[in-house]
Amino acid sequence: MSLLVTGIGELVTGDPQVGDGSPLGVLSGAAFVVDAGTVRWVGDAVGAPAADQAVDVAGRSVIPGFVDSHSHLVFAGDRSAEFAARMAGETYSAGGIRATVAATRAAGDEQLAAQLSRHVAEMARQGTTTVEIKSGYGLTVADEARALALAAAVTRETTFLGAHVVPQEYADDPAAYVDLVTGPMLTACAAHARWIDAFCEVGAFDVDQARTVLEAGRAVGLGMRLHANQLGHGPGVQLACELGAAAVDHCTYLTDADVDALAASGVVAGLLPGVEFSTRSPYPDARRLLDAGVTVALATDCNPGSSYTSSMPLCIALAVREMRMAPAEAMWSATRGGAASLARGDVGHLTVGARADFAVLEAPTYLHLAYRPGVPLVASTWAAGRQVA
Ligand code: NIG
Ligand code: FE
Repeated sequence: MSLLVTGIGELVTGDPQVGDGSPLGVLSGAAFVVDAGTVRWVGDAVGAPAADQAVDVAGRSVIPGFVDSHSHLVFAGDRSAEFAARMAGETYSAGGIRATVAATRAAGDEQLAAQLSRHVAEMARQGTTTVEIKSGYGLTVADEARALALAAAVTRETTFLGAHVVPQEYADDPAAYVDLVTGPMLTACAAHARWIDAFCEVGAFDVDQARTVLEAGRAVGLGMRLHANQLGHGPGVQLACELGAAAVDHCTYLTDADVDALAASGVVAGLLPGVEFSTRSPYPDARRLLDAGVTVALATDCNPGSSYTSSMPLCIALAVREMRMAPAEAMWSATRGGAASLARGDVGHLTVGARADFAVLEAPTYLHLAYRPGVPLVASTWAAGRQVA
């Protein structure tokens, strides 16, 4: 059953070969045809081919579905009191993760699955059609494997983050915990995961431990990603570049050498402005990265501790207002940038052959995502040509 989407006031294709000549490839008066979940034709509405069904979006803007390349959606419990304490002057530390670990271990499978699907639906209502989901709040073999099995039921982009923090029971012997992560835990988790990740930061894992974890994942066929340089300068970004990871996320504190290494290696820098918002920290300098030629992805990092937002529109608005990104750059980083972070060629754009993942905005242009912060502008969201929100 083919579908013609027409009456599009402004279509963000993400194809630099078409439209206004920008990386977003913006077309006006456009239409596109979807068949079997894939974009089959894109062009001027006047010349659109016939299709089995048609949807007229009445002049609204249509954008590629957001690709949220970093989230931690398998969890239980609530840390709003910790947030309130931060807003009263406390500082964020990696140790808060353990509170969520305790709540997640205590939760039943149905409770975790229900909470997970609620958050995925919440993302869909805000235009997100691809989401990466990490484990990392179980930290036992069984709890990490459970988290990844649950995540794999809702996304292809699953990440084993056994190296999120050293759990309480290994506090006196972190080396033994790294052995567990790279041994039995990895064996139990690898089948449910596409990626391996580690939190390389003071209070979590040092650079040697992070290297050991990523190399163990790579040896069993997982792609590599890393959390690094969130709370201060550190060696994590250089490690990601040296190993050729797909992405290194946070990148809040960077030296010139870090920026140069990112540009030279092609490792995607994932920026997570919800974290700086929710921890009242300085934002990463996206402008510096972009001017150096680094590929930047924007993601929510949705998690109960450092960034409990599922909203890519909020991240776009923060990136524009606080991180010196142009609206077009933020839009690109939330779609094609996220796809680059996940090494996905089929999402983040609306060109012939792409997955038909898109959002219809209650706005004439995508610029409204930053211009009208906090306003629910997503009128509908479609994944593989089917309306999902
Ligand atoms: O990406 N940095 C490590 N993990 C999360 C925070 C998790 C938490 O505080 O529960 C993050 O910010
Ligand atoms: Fe994270």
